[in-house]
Amino acid sequence: MKRIAVFASGNGSNFQAIVNAVKRSELNASITLLVSDKPGAYVIDRAMKEEIPTFVFAAKNYQEKADYEREILKHLKTNKIDLIVLAGYMRLVGGTLLQAFAGKIINIHPSLLPAFPGKDAIGQALEAGVSQTGITIHYVDAGMDTGPIIAQEAITLTEEETRESIQEKIQVLEHQLYPKVIQHLLYNKEAFHQ
Ligand code: GRF
Repeated sequence: MKRIAVFASGNGSNFQAIVNAVKRSELNASITLLVSDKPGAYVIDRAMKEEIPTFVFAAKNYQEKADYEREILKHLKTNKIDLIVLAGYMRLVGGTLLQAFAGKIINIHPSLLPAFPGKDAIGQALEAGVSQTGITIHYVDAGMDTGPIIAQEAITLTEEETRESIQEKIQVLEHQLYPKVIQHLLYNKEAFHQ
């Protein structure tokens, strides 16, 4: 059984979708660890309810990124993690983790990258007045939402769209696509096809 660590900073609806996919046997993996940089984040409550071990840290207690990433790495190694899944983890991943888990860190982002990287991708799309936006799952590199793209799915925006309505549509897609892509990456060599 492959072992996954999810990294999240907030609500954790994607974390929950991944856990639920495991429960439904759509994803053959063990969610072995939740890593969070936000003590008090709702995702931690979710992990506790699911009896999934957590490593929670506050970056301000460390001098630099490499210091807390070394700590995270210990937990990843102890737990024999195969894949790191970022799900609303609001930090850039540094060299310590990128080297130790080269090609084994993925992220989900609420836009059709390379459009609208970084924070508030939905707000950026609204502001730009685009007629389509969507979601992207990609490998993580040192940049902000710049790694090689694995899968994307688009939504069409109507005239009446609000931030909330877009977010709702995006999250429905995220919750379906992320577990599927994870399952594929764990057990297949060829590229993911939708
Ligand atoms: C998702 O929309 C994801 O694309 C972005 O952060 C959000 C996290 O949502 N990276 P949640 O915490 O999983 O509900």
